[in-house]
Amino acid sequence: MNKDLDCRAQEILRRNDRGGYTVPTHGLYPFQWNWDSAFVALGFAEFDRERGWQEIETLSSAQWDDGMIPHIVFHQDDDGYFPGPGVWATGKTPATSGITQPPVLASVVRQLWEQEGTDPTHPRMRKLYAACVKSHRWFHRFRDPLGNGLVMVTHNWETGRDNSSEWDAALARIDTSGVGTYTRRDTGHVDAAMRPKQHEYDRYVAILQFGRDCGWDHREIADNGPFRMIDVGMSMELLRANRDLLVLAEAIGDARVADELTNRIALSEQGMDWLWNDEVGAYCSRDATTHESSGLVTNASFLAFYAGVGSRQQHTRLIAALERLTASAAFLVPSLEAGSREYDHRRYWRGPIWLVVSYMVARGLAEQGHQDWAERIRRDSARLIEKSGFFESFSPETGEGSGGPDFSWTAAMWLAWCGK
Ligand code: GLC
Repeated sequence: MNKDLDCRAQEILRRNDRGGYTVPTHGLYPFQWNWDSAFVALGFAEFDRERGWQEIETLSSAQWDDGMIPHIVFHQDDDGYFPGPGVWATGKTPATSGITQPPVLASVVRQLWEQEGTDPTHPRMRKLYAACVKSHRWFHRFRDPLGNGLVMVTHNWETGRDNSSEWDAALARIDTSGVGTYTRRDTGHVDAAMRPKQHEYDRYVAILQFGRDCGWDHREIADNGPFRMIDVGMSMELLRANRDLLVLAEAIGDARVADELTNRIALSEQGMDWLWNDEVGAYCSRDATTHESSGLVTNASFLAFYAGVGSRQQHTRLIAALERLTASAAFLVPSLEAGSREYDHRRYWRGPIWLVVSYMVARGLAEQGHQDWAERIRRDSARLIEKSGFFESFSPETGEGSGGPDFSWTAAMWLAWCGK
């Protein structure tokens, strides 16, 4: 069985390969996505190391001069997708979107490099290291409005957990009166019951239009944009990525960057408590403008282990929250706690499981001494693929697949993690 699934996973990556980059899935997502590619590189590296490195090199070649690595790279147009390059109108070559996605690249570069024996002169590592330093500086410059080392997102699509209820309150304030008409493409590929609702989509488009109308001026977007959330997921991921980048800086002997990263890490470690919500006993996303906490326990809350933050007491409460999830979920880790407002085991980021988040959560749990939980999440993830195949996401109740089929990062997670 495992052998068959290994072959199938490799086949999916080969089939989704468009020449130097991989699409997440055929049809629904026909371009290169930022954090998808980072995880995909881990999958390729299991059977074709050259192709693994190439995936993230192609991604980093679309980095903006200011350091931002865009969330989508439109290597070729495809009118089966909305919003395409003409709507974003960033004027870049290759065409890209105007926002970013979770900064997991440095963590992946470190992993690939360590798998090859930690040579500090490794040319591919060094090139990507430089891109990551630039990208992390971009985050520090434009996305830390409170100066506490956490990450602000200016579009819910940046979080990678696009439709999470964490964004509902902030999205509800968005004025959609100027949005105009457009045709969605996502619901032409998958069941509308699994996708965001129309009024939600209008808000996503309105935020995009703000960025476009100011010529993608990242200062203006950060200071005056309509959506300003401190995302628990990106804050944890960047902290982890800073730690991984520091390992590379030290290996290379780049003392200036090592100092800079050490300071950033200390700042984020202290700042993270701003996201702690004592009522629910977890880290939660919080609005940068109103300071309101979402009060929602999502799979991203458990990335605290991966980021290496939290006191003993906070860890105990997080484990209690994980325990609570198992009451309603046959499989871990759901993207939203059952019983929360808007929980739906089939709808996009409001219940379904995404294996890439589960992978980071499990890694963190293992590193912090919770091997039993880490192993349980790994087993559940493998069972989901064994039962339903390589879907975009899965129901935590029934294990059924949701979203797109033959998904690249799900295949990659099988090869690099849960199928091993
Ligand atoms: C969806 C997900 C996002 C992912 C993209 C491509 O938009 O929410 O995290 O990067 O699909 O798979």
